[in-house]
Amino acid sequence: MEHYLIKTYGCQMNIHESEKLAGMMQSLGYTETDSEDNADIIVFNTCCVRDGAEQKIYAHIGALKKLKKAKPDLIIAICGCMTQVNGRPETIKSKFPFVNIIFGTHNLNEFKKYIIQFKANRKYICDVWPEARYLDEHIDTYRTSNNNAWINISYGCNNFCTYCIVPYVRGRERSRNFADIIEECKDAINDGYKYITLLGQNVNSYGNDIDDKNVTFANLLKEIAHLEGDFRLKFMTSHPKDLTEDVVRVIADEPKIAKVIHLPIQSGSNKILKSMNRNYTREKYLSLIDMIRKYIPDCYISTDIIVGFPGETEQDFEDTYNIINQVRYDGVFAFMYSKRDGTLASKMDNQIDIAVKRERVNKLLAQSKKITKEKNMEAVGKSYNVIVNSFDAINRLYNCTTDSGKSIVVMADNLDINSFYKVVVTEFSKNKLFGKIGE
Ligand code: SAH
Ligand code: SF4
Ligand code: F3S
Repeated sequence: MEHYLIKTYGCQMNIHESEKLAGMMQSLGYTETDSEDNADIIVFNTCCVRDGAEQKIYAHIGALKKLKKAKPDLIIAICGCMTQVNGRPETIKSKFPFVNIIFGTHNLNEFKKYIIQFKANRKYICDVWPEARYLDEHIDTYRTSNNNAWINISYGCNNFCTYCIVPYVRGRERSRNFADIIEECKDAINDGYKYITLLGQNVNSYGNDIDDKNVTFANLLKEIAHLEGDFRLKFMTSHPKDLTEDVVRVIADEPKIAKVIHLPIQSGSNKILKSMNRNYTREKYLSLIDMIRKYIPDCYISTDIIVGFPGETEQDFEDTYNIINQVRYDGVFAFMYSKRDGTLASKMDNQIDIAVKRERVNKLLAQSKKITKEKNMEAVGKSYNVIVNSFDAINRLYNCTTDSGKSIVVMADNLDINSFYKVVVTEFSKNKLFGKIGE
């Protein structure tokens, strides 16, 4: 029996694509292993959104040199966003001559073919397509994310935020066929998945490239939410410039849609937002938050922030810091700006010193941690939809998570694992939420 091991870096898109890679390898008779020593094929599904990610990946590939020497038959394959960057496949090959197969994001489907070809003649394969030639429908996916089924609704991105490499490595936005998405959702629900999470770099622009005015994100959400079965629907990521009242109302009205919105602001300064090409202002963003809270008062709202974008002054940073106090997010993902070759921002003047970036990101994260703690204290007395993940038999407690992924420990009798319940939070102590069944 031959074994595979996949190392996944980056976002949910990559996590899901690793499930597709796994499906392809399984159809060739490989089974999964978590041990490098036991693996016959190791795949690196890479990310290049920040330099830190790339450096980590280089270190991890390099660490395989010894193993490959001891096991020359081991196949090492590199794919994902990093291989789509100009010159990267050549750099990877010259740093790590023992790598056997390199392919890109647009030809993920071809992986099976590359494995067969490599096994036949053991010749190095490097095949990276500059753009997509088809939508990758109908791949055997081997889902690995517990009770959650990731489902792509679109690929690529048209926004060209000036800091971001994603449009260069993932290509232009392509929406999947509406009926195909619905079919995949139905299959996942029938297979017992409790969460369906729709994936796109900008879910709100779903359908903009399809010539049918009924193909919109709001209609897609509504149609999936009306499917039969006991499940919750989630999605990511929403771009503030395209989030409409329509969509927010569908989320509010449909009981099967989780009340969770990830709405990246990136910066609270209008000057920086403009320079980032985000196409909204701080005021427009805050009005979206008000609109969400008008329809869905207890909506879980999280965000992404970049600090140290070129030209960010103390005042610009203060504007961002103030936004997190004003919105009081449930979750903040803050990153230090990382210069990506080929993007507009990489050529801008006034690049910010790393020490300043570090200080700003730490300040932001400390404040957001404080707010999260306060929000957890405010959760006491509130009711949440939860799913039961496991039972702790020693303490007779159930470990549950809310639709937004927050853990709640529930004291109860005879709950069914992998089922939904309504829970009221009774206590927040030692950084943990406790609750009991009830509305
Ligand atoms: N399409 C999604 C996700 C993009 S990548 C969106 O628009 O939200 C995820 C996050 O990485 C972004 O939201 C941004 O905060 C961060 N990011 C992207 N490029 C970056 C860069 N060059 N430096 C630092 N953070 C970056
Ligand atoms: Fe990158 Fe902006 Fe597209 Fe998100 S919307 S993937 S941040 S270019
Ligand atoms: Fe995701 Fe990283 Fe690619 S964030 S889209 S895996 S560059």
